[in-house]
Amino acid sequence: MRIDLDYLKSRLKEQVPEHRYIHSIGVAESAKKLAIHFGADPLKAEIAGILHDYTKYWPKDQLAKVIKENPELSPDLLDYSPELWHGPVASIIIQTEFQIEDQEIIDAIHYHTSGREKMTLLDKVVCLADYIEPSRDYPGVNEIRALANESIEKSLVQALDGTIQFLMKKGWKIYPLTMIARNSLIDEMNDK
Ligand SMILES: [Fe+2]
Ligand SMILES: [Fe+2]
Repeated sequence: MRIDLDYLKSRLKEQVPEHRYIHSIGVAESAKKLAIHFGADPLKAEIAGILHDYTKYWPKDQLAKVIKENPELSPDLLDYSPELWHGPVASIIIQTEFQIEDQEIIDAIHYHTSGREKMTLLDKVVCLADYIEPSRDYPGVNEIRALANESIEKSLVQALDGTIQFLMKKGWKIYPLTMIARNSLIDEMNDK
């Protein structure tokens, strides 16, 4: 894979505000560390980390258009919060913009917000890095960071629980794939 990380970073910088750029670099660094620790591919983790929020600031109608036009993206996304749309859309856009063909990278970006059933190790690494990169600051983040040293699945379940609880408190809908991801991680832990 011939990918120039500095080039990807410079292109990201054109797409997102400064704080999101810093967050993305943080995710890339954390994902790389987690990948080394748990045995995933560190370069793939870094690439997915840099690009995971690439389309986060696109207008809602532009994101919706990509979802409608790409049959590999689930149309049910449109029934849930637009906050969920940028991952799936970025997974399509990076293929044409940067000729990224690696399915593991594409999937890790696709599912970074929702999770999915039977997440790959790279999916887990990128999803968790998004929750614990150094600039993240929310109640419970240090506990999730500490758990990450012990078990990536445990840590991720705790992180998803926080998201689910937040959505419930707000009275907002929960994307079913997030519940499926959580259940699947719990099955995985129980099978070990
Ligand atoms: Fe995101
Ligand atoms: Fe993110």
